[in-house]
Amino acid sequence: MSSQSLWTPDSWKAAEARHLPVYEDAVDLGRVETTLAKFPPLVFAGEARALKADLANVAAGKGFLLQGGDCAESFAEFHPDNIRDTFRVLLQMAVVLTFASKQPVIKLGRMAGQFAKPRSAPTETQGGLELPSYLGDIINGIEFDAGTRRNDPERMLRAYSQSASTLNLLRAFSTGGYANLRQVHKWTLDHIARSPWTDKFADMADRIGEALDFMAACGVDPTTVPQLQGTSFYTSHEALLLPYEQALTRRDSLTGDWYDCSAHMLWIGDRTRFEGSAHVEFLRGVGNPIGMKCGPSLTPDALLKLLDTLNPGREPGRITLISRFGDDKVEAGLPALVRAVQREGHVVVWSCDPMHGNIIKTNSGYKTRPFDRILREVRGFFAVHRAEGTHAGGIHIEMTGQDVTECTGGLVDITNEALADRYHTHCDPRLNAAQSIELAFLLAEMLNLEATDRAKQAA
Ligand code: PEP
Ligand code: CO
Repeated sequence: MSSQSLWTPDSWKAAEARHLPVYEDAVDLGRVETTLAKFPPLVFAGEARALKADLANVAAGKGFLLQGGDCAESFAEFHPDNIRDTFRVLLQMAVVLTFASKQPVIKLGRMAGQFAKPRSAPTETQGGLELPSYLGDIINGIEFDAGTRRNDPERMLRAYSQSASTLNLLRAFSTGGYANLRQVHKWTLDHIARSPWTDKFADMADRIGEALDFMAACGVDPTTVPQLQGTSFYTSHEALLLPYEQALTRRDSLTGDWYDCSAHMLWIGDRTRFEGSAHVEFLRGVGNPIGMKCGPSLTPDALLKLLDTLNPGREPGRITLISRFGDDKVEAGLPALVRAVQREGHVVVWSCDPMHGNIIKTNSGYKTRPFDRILREVRGFFAVHRAEGTHAGGIHIEMTGQDVTECTGGLVDITNEALADRYHTHCDPRLNAAQSIELAFLLAEMLNLEATDRAKQAA
């Protein structure tokens, strides 16, 4: 009998787990797991199904997925202003994309649970001292001392609590009036007011205002249309720390199916999507929509096997493939994957992560991502899908609403020297608010081209 039928929330324990922390004290870990298993789920299975239905539309070419947020959320940066600012940049980006593409845009935060990080090296050495690497605030601390770098299961409880409050605020903003389209002018951040995108965004906001006035004059009262009053906002993170994910996995009372209720969507990282992986084993059994990172080492055959494992029922909306090749590899590497998926008739959302293949280190030691390389990967991704006749369905970015200096370039032109000014990330460099909005306007042009192409083909 195939292992496909033997899934249980802990069946991953018999598979090969990479990038999982070792906890010194199994009793401590067990106590935390038992506590978490009694905590309320953070999301409801029905919401995960709603996201899956939205993603099924994107997979069918009707819509675009916007997924973004921190590389790693941290306990230190936990503040309502940070949550609000990231949320509103995502809203601004979504409005730019919707307005240009005339397609629904699914908003999915890398927020409210994005704490655990796979690292390339297990240890870090500073001034002759070697300590375990920082693995994300849900596992250990970033300060370089032996006590802080110890893996501490209690951190899972704090991460749960921070995720719950973050999600609560996101839900409040989404449905409580903040996201009302009438407010579109007010979403402009103070520091964005100095950026080259202010006028362009203000023009678009004026046109949206006029459209709403026009609808009102025609007798459609925008205050009674829920889609104009608020928005759907979903959450996601890499399902890396399996003891935490397992503890939040619950059986849905409506369908009897299992869902990982730590977020609406969970994804599998590029380092944990190998055949036989514990992370793949865990995620194949939960009903959530699942993302999977696809980097240069993924062969078409391995991808097809993974799709059979993760989506044997071929449910549309279940799988989002997030390619992250690097600007110089995407056009050579992605077509083979797209063709294999097409040939076998799988229905997936294709999304582009232009961040993780484009990290460089400056001479002064900062990890950064040049904006032009990010843009080149996005353009390459669109070019491949255009050539293959498939839908460029989404973007996956590391960004923040803060005015940080972590990625170089963009019209705000952050130089290598300026990186030191406001480099705050706990892990990888993020686009700042102005760079995110700039990317949205450039993406909007690409989506427009795709739509024009399609209209021509249909004519
Ligand atoms: C990430 O998204 O933070 C990440 C680690 O990406 P990848 O798995 O693609 O390297
Ligand atoms: Co990252």
